[in-house]
Amino acid sequence: MQHIQSASVMQTFVLAARREGKRIGAVPTMGYLHDGHASLVRMARAESDIVITTIFVNPLQFAPNEDFTRYPRDFERDWSIAEKAGCDVLFTPSPEEMYPQGFQTNISIGGVSAPFEGVFRPTHFDGVATVVAKLFLLTQPDKAFFGQKDYQQCMVVKKLVRDLAIPLEIVVCPTQRENDGLAMSSRNVYLSAEDRIKSTILWKSLQAAQNLIQQGERHRDRIETILKETLLTMNGLTIDYAAAADADTLEQPTEFAPTQGIVLLLAVRLGATRLIDNLVVR
Ligand code: PAF
Repeated sequence: MQHIQSASVMQTFVLAARREGKRIGAVPTMGYLHDGHASLVRMARAESDIVITTIFVNPLQFAPNEDFTRYPRDFERDWSIAEKAGCDVLFTPSPEEMYPQGFQTNISIGGVSAPFEGVFRPTHFDGVATVVAKLFLLTQPDKAFFGQKDYQQCMVVKKLVRDLAIPLEIVVCPTQRENDGLAMSSRNVYLSAEDRIKSTILWKSLQAAQNLIQQGERHRDRIETILKETLLTMNGLTIDYAAAADADTLEQPTEFAPTQGIVLLLAVRLGATRLIDNLVVR
């Protein structure tokens, strides 16, 4: 596996590879890789000639009160996970490479960025869209692989690609879960032993709402009530949102049509840790 840190070296490398007709797959990450990321790399491996994993803890997508400085980092571990999963190039630019002095561009996407995460982290998706656009330009992928765990992020990135006609395909890969259902996330490392046990309530709550929908329930408030009631059986948990929305648009009708895909979206806080998860019911 090759290690590239310079933005210009990365771009020169991919432009040469593209001239040779190689299909490039990119897996953008913030590092502290886990099996969820490894599954994205494996998927990219199966569909590309060259797999590039990017690791960059992007300061632009963290608000001042968030966990940018304590976000977990472990280069050696990341190297080994990426290599085993079949990555060819690990691209780890510094903040100065990504945002050289005088950098002033901000990409802001309307609509899908506004609800849910957009309410609680108002600047987050501008930071994501800006860094993802730059990573796409530096790695020039034919396909880029993202995890469904960040459902709204996937929608924002798809909108970015569609609106700016960026010539690549976004591949959304299934959420990887621990045996007890907790969605894999680099931030799970923040959970205390007690909160780690409590965290299984997110998956239970999603499953309870899924069962209700599968029994024919289409009223949004009743679906959201079961999500919230299940979550609140756990002491010490606070809900940012527990919502049902149209799986394609994130709109929230009073009642879903029988054929409408529904996404269940959760963001909760357990102690100092914020967890998100989702489930699509079609
Ligand atoms: O999902 C992530 O890890 C990040 O938001 C991403 C897409 C790499 C952008 O920094």
